[in-house]
Amino acid sequence: MKLEIDTEANAVKVDGKTLDLYSDEAFSVLSDLWVRVGWNQKYSYSFSWLGVPIIQLPEDMIRYQEAVWELQPDVIVETGVAHGGSAVFSASLCRLMGKGRVIAVDIEIRPHNRKRIEEHPFSDLITLIEGSSTDASVVENIRSQINPGEKVLVVLDSDHSYKHVMDELEAYSSLVTVGSWIVATDGLMQDLTDAPRGRGDWDVDNPAKAARDFAAQNPQFKIEPPAWPFNESTLSKNITHWPDAWLRRTG
Ligand SMILES: C[S@@+](CC[C@H](N)C(=O)[O-])C[C@H]1O[C@@H](n2cnc3c(N)ncnc32)[C@H](O)[C@@H]1O
Repeated sequence: MKLEIDTEANAVKVDGKTLDLYSDEAFSVLSDLWVRVGWNQKYSYSFSWLGVPIIQLPEDMIRYQEAVWELQPDVIVETGVAHGGSAVFSASLCRLMGKGRVIAVDIEIRPHNRKRIEEHPFSDLITLIEGSSTDASVVENIRSQINPGEKVLVVLDSDHSYKHVMDELEAYSSLVTVGSWIVATDGLMQDLTDAPRGRGDWDVDNPAKAARDFAAQNPQFKIEPPAWPFNESTLSKNITHWPDAWLRRTG
């Protein structure tokens, strides 16, 4: 892509096409590029939530918060704990809402990360499970902790390979309540094949493709990101690391 930004003429030229700088289309082009460069520069590795590092784009955290508030889940299942920031983020929403708890699984929970999570004021709302998210005993352990009738939201943020995400979708989708979502995060990989930190095969080996293929094979799920509850702009497109991530269970 060839991009020229002229702040004196208020114009953005994209591959020869000129856009008004102050247009939704120009904002979309600029934000896509900002997300891409920011991903490469590890912008999402520069935040913490209530003292715990969280590896997310803040835009995704805010949109996620909107969905959690709308949904009011009883249980949030998360794969991929890392330092624990997303588990603490979800637990903090549960505490504020006065309902819900988090079950979080990671193949390796390092002792210092476990300690920080277990000593956190919201640790009473978090159950940590160590093991591979697709291990049958891990899935069964999680299933056994969910009571009949509880509203369940699932967020997949572990191994982002197509196969692993597809296996997770198959293992966890039956836990998801009708009306809720299973979220296959970090599909942005599909657009990063030629970024310096990207990989050439990510055009096919990525979570977004797994989510799309899963939806095609499972008509009770459809790709449907949460609607914006508030929007006084003319914008409608998420700025996100999670394209095609939100699989809503409709039946
Ligand atoms: C991107 S990080 C998670 C970030 C975290 N959700 C956050 O927002 O801060 C991915 C994590 O997935 C874990 N992981 C990788 N393969 C896994 C697997 N098969 N099962 C469970 N966790 C896995 C890694 O150990 C790593 O901690």
